[in-house]
Amino acid sequence: MEPSLTDPFNRKIEYVRVSVTDRCDLRCTYCLPPGYHDFVEPEQWLTFDEIERVIRAFTELGVYRVRLTGGEPLTRHHLPELAARLNALPNLQDLSLSTNGVQLRKQAGALSQAGVKRINVSLDSLQPERFANITGGGKLAKVLDGLAAASEAGLHPVKINMVVMNGVNDDEIEDMVRYCLEQDFTLRLIETMPMGDTGRAASSHYLDLEVVRRRLEKRFDLVAAVMPGGGPARYVQVAGTALRIGFITPISRHFCETCNRVRLSADGALYLCLGQDEKVELRALLREGISDEGLKGTIRAAVARKPEKHEFREQPRKIVRFMSRTGG
Ligand code: 5AD
Ligand code: SF4
Repeated sequence: MEPSLTDPFNRKIEYVRVSVTDRCDLRCTYCLPPGYHDFVEPEQWLTFDEIERVIRAFTELGVYRVRLTGGEPLTRHHLPELAARLNALPNLQDLSLSTNGVQLRKQAGALSQAGVKRINVSLDSLQPERFANITGGGKLAKVLDGLAAASEAGLHPVKINMVVMNGVNDDEIEDMVRYCLEQDFTLRLIETMPMGDTGRAASSHYLDLEVVRRRLEKRFDLVAAVMPGGGPARYVQVAGTALRIGFITPISRHFCETCNRVRLSADGALYLCLGQDEKVELRALLREGISDEGLKGTIRAAVARKPEKHEFREQPRKIVRFMSRTGG
């Protein structure tokens, strides 16, 4: 029998998102406050050995997809080495990465060689000044060049994640559609989530993506589409092209019924839900020498506590941690 991890709501857990650091070389307004420095200390980061051990246990329990995320995962030294080690786990089938793209020019080749197949890159604006404002000083040209490097390295699909903010960048959605068409990227539009004070502040620019979809329908001929390995995004395709546009709508239409994932934070806490506080601290257990069987038992017990759903709408003040802790 195939091993599997199933939670009390009959959801099969097959996907782990690993935040390898909560640090970042940008400061997106909706994520981290300007000048924020209160990061996890490096001695509390799980080592590559520890991450590999946890992911091996997960893959022996039926998980076959892993995404490396952050903070900004490419700020963690030697990330391709970790990618290669995870990719070598026999049951792992799908290794992906979420990044802000700043360091992709340097690292895309090594990541691809290490077995990363596909990447998601945050990109909220194609206007240099606006991009700098949203990201706390980021250089747009560098990210665009990083994206070119990703394509050259054969990473595919490249998905662009755009957090849509009313009055901030919603006037650029059509431009982003055209950019993704030209570059053969997939576009994903994301609603702001009230995570931490920053996320709550950004939520004053919340825009229901259903409104955006209707707006796009007037300009483009959109047909329903599926994206293999797609997560919570609902996709449409621009007819006659390869371009798919995904809508990630945690606020207007949540997708918790189909949630298939848990998240490992940089300091080794297993978070059961992006929008809840339930977690199990694995770092201490690992450092106290827990056995492989003990680790798997702990993971099973954790999954048994997975919350049914987030409450971003009902309790928008609940989650104080920033997105960079557990990855977007
Ligand atoms: N709301 C929505 N998405 C967020 N991200 C970070 N903070 C938020 C937030 N408050 C997501 C963005 C970014 C990724 C790293 O995390 O999609 O691309
Ligand atoms: Fe960094 Fe991503 Fe947060 Fe922006 S959203 S500050 S790129 S972790």
